Amino acid sequence: MITRRGFVGRAAAVVTAAGVKLPIWEKALPIGEDTARGSAADARSGWPLLLGADYYPDQTPENLWEEDARMIAEAGLTNVRVAEFAWGLLEPSEGKFDFAWLKRSVEILHRHGIAVILGTPSAAPPPWLSSKYAEILLVNKDGVTVQPGGRRFTCPSNQTYRRLSLNIATEMAKTFANAPGVIGWQIDNEYTLQPHARCYCKYCREGFQDWVKAKYRTLDAVNEKWGTVFWSQTYTDWRQIPVPLPSNGDPNPGLVLDYDRYQSHACASSAEEQLAMLRKQCPKHFVTTNQVGAPLDTLNLREMYRNMDFVSSDNYPGFAQVFMPALASPEVMASMIALGHDSMRCVKGGKPFLIMEEQAGKAGQSFFAPQPHPGQLRLWAFQAVAHGAMGVNYFRWDSARFGAEEYWFGMLNHDRSKSIGFDEMVRTVKEIKSLGREGLEASYVAETAVSFDHDSSWALAVQPGNSKLSYMAQLIAWYGSVASANTGTDVIHLDEDLSKYKAVFAPLQYVVSEKQAENIRNYVRNGGTLVAGFRLGVKDESSQIVNAPLPGLLRDVMGVTVKDPVPVYTERIGVKFAPRLAGADAQCALWADLLKPESAAVLATYTGAYEGDAAITMNTFGKGQAVYVGADLDATSLARVLRTVLATSGSSLTIQAPRGVEVTRRRTRDKEWVFALNHTPEDQKVSMPGKFSAVVGNGLSDGALTLRGYDLAVLEKV
Ligand code: GAL
Ligand code: ZN
Repeated sequence: MITRRGFVGRAAAVVTAAGVKLPIWEKALPIGEDTARGSAADARSGWPLLLGADYYPDQTPENLWEEDARMIAEAGLTNVRVAEFAWGLLEPSEGKFDFAWLKRSVEILHRHGIAVILGTPSAAPPPWLSSKYAEILLVNKDGVTVQPGGRRFTCPSNQTYRRLSLNIATEMAKTFANAPGVIGWQIDNEYTLQPHARCYCKYCREGFQDWVKAKYRTLDAVNEKWGTVFWSQTYTDWRQIPVPLPSNGDPNPGLVLDYDRYQSHACASSAEEQLAMLRKQCPKHFVTTNQVGAPLDTLNLREMYRNMDFVSSDNYPGFAQVFMPALASPEVMASMIALGHDSMRCVKGGKPFLIMEEQAGKAGQSFFAPQPHPGQLRLWAFQAVAHGAMGVNYFRWDSARFGAEEYWFGMLNHDRSKSIGFDEMVRTVKEIKSLGREGLEASYVAETAVSFDHDSSWALAVQPGNSKLSYMAQLIAWYGSVASANTGTDVIHLDEDLSKYKAVFAPLQYVVSEKQAENIRNYVRNGGTLVAGFRLGVKDESSQIVNAPLPGLLRDVMGVTVKDPVPVYTERIGVKFAPRLAGADAQCALWADLLKPESAAVLATYTGAYEGDAAITMNTFGKGQAVYVGADLDATSLARVLRTVLATSGSSLTIQAPRGVEVTRRRTRDKEWVFALNHTPEDQKVSMPGKFSAVVGNGLSDGALTLRGYDLAVLEKV
């Protein structure tokens, strides 16, 4: 667990390593609204609690800026983020810059005590740029060039695009390095926004060839690792190496996995260029970039954020209602959002993150989700804080009357009146502030971890085995089952330190590296509980199938071999549980690894065509346990199985909360806060053994907490 001191120390180390002189986290000001306000006046003395809004002076007539700033301040907001899409106004033609308007806006905001996070505008190059340099355009997976007119239509490898992006960012940085009120930077905006998360253009092809060369050094090594002898793909020159565009036959799995890694790296290295420049020009400012908050597998975020100060993410629960109505029950939605937060927090080892964009009203573009129910705007903002956020910015301050996001509703309506949720957001900001810097920077308490492995997700996407099998769907189901036990769940990579977890869950860990296998082996040997899903350890890091019985490198730990891996299509296969996992028989949906125990005990067997073969096993290995869930269980059975194993893993944190109620904890050396969040419309009661005092909410009495529909409480342990 990270104590506050440890946290500050670690942050200082990261910052120092990044070459920044000032240990920014140590400059944090004392808690309190007045100090927070004052601090916004001068970035040199730190920055306020980050409770703000995303603001668009570029889209607002200048005669309204003063009124905006006054209202933003009155609402209790301490900061705004501006300019992340304003390239066209900032550089109206190549090399001609105009920062005067932005300076005026920053000055007005500053006068009202509002601190400013500036966005570098590379996500939306203006038409003069895309017309003159058509080579910057992204080529999608079908080989079609994506046209300008939207945003994020750019190639991450293209040097012209990267040079011009860096150029405008540099001019901006020089202009605002010492501007009073400016406290930090957001680089770009949401790298790899869907639907075109990858580029396949000729610059990416060249970039990929160079990356492959740097990685493998010799063509012999590439040919061997990718197995290019298959279908006569042996490369004799680096420039022959293709990108995985349609080719009348499935692509080489090793090449595809490396291409995903390369594309992720291209985005990270492009951000890194801007970061290095900002470190030089603006040593007093923090630097971050914002991500789609929902769990996505397009980027290796650990690489992207390695040298940034903290992670920022964008939180739009309303999208779930629009795009996944079948999933939009309160419990499932709450758990999907929580998975996003837990993933973001863990990108930098548990360090508090920032919600750069938080849903402020109806969410949508061409169509929109309904207004969140009264209480939900507050609930969702607090949910982020409950999962480790240190601040929240509402997206957006006003509602645009033009452009592609007219139907995205801000804190103000289109006619600039206060939105239906305005007062609720003002209240929320005030309540979040009451946790103070101490509460907002406290560590999240997690006793369990779920692995989220890009390599497995990317490798499985080319060859899922069963066309319906999806890594992300498995991850979501497993995470939901585990997280609902309220033990606190980190979302990790399996080569990270596992020793702090009572149990580690690894759904569909299709790719297992030697380093990961060794880490897992040590973890279990020393008393940890590992629960792994089917298709474990099928592939190595090159996406080659391991040359050993499955589960490959983890056979000894799991104490089983896979007798046969079975994709399930029309067959009806059941699962019958041994007394230790007692429960109704389950249905096996997409996959059945038929398990042959070596040293493991059998916890469930198949029925039907594979009658008697083991479906779930548990092995004692050293001082720990390793459970293999070979069957793709129905949701209810999966939750029951995972929760039963969890209950025996020695977790001390289980507070029995009703369905749809989340309980999380944040801790410093001396204090602990418990967050209880009711995601359901009904009243709920949670029994709270121990002594608490209420920091937010007032439903606590006689050791029980009563929460109205969509209500929440923050309690401090006394
Ligand atoms: C985010 C994006 C914003 C805005 C918002 C609402 O993903 O960063 O610029 O588009 O969604 O759609
Ligand atoms: Zn490209």
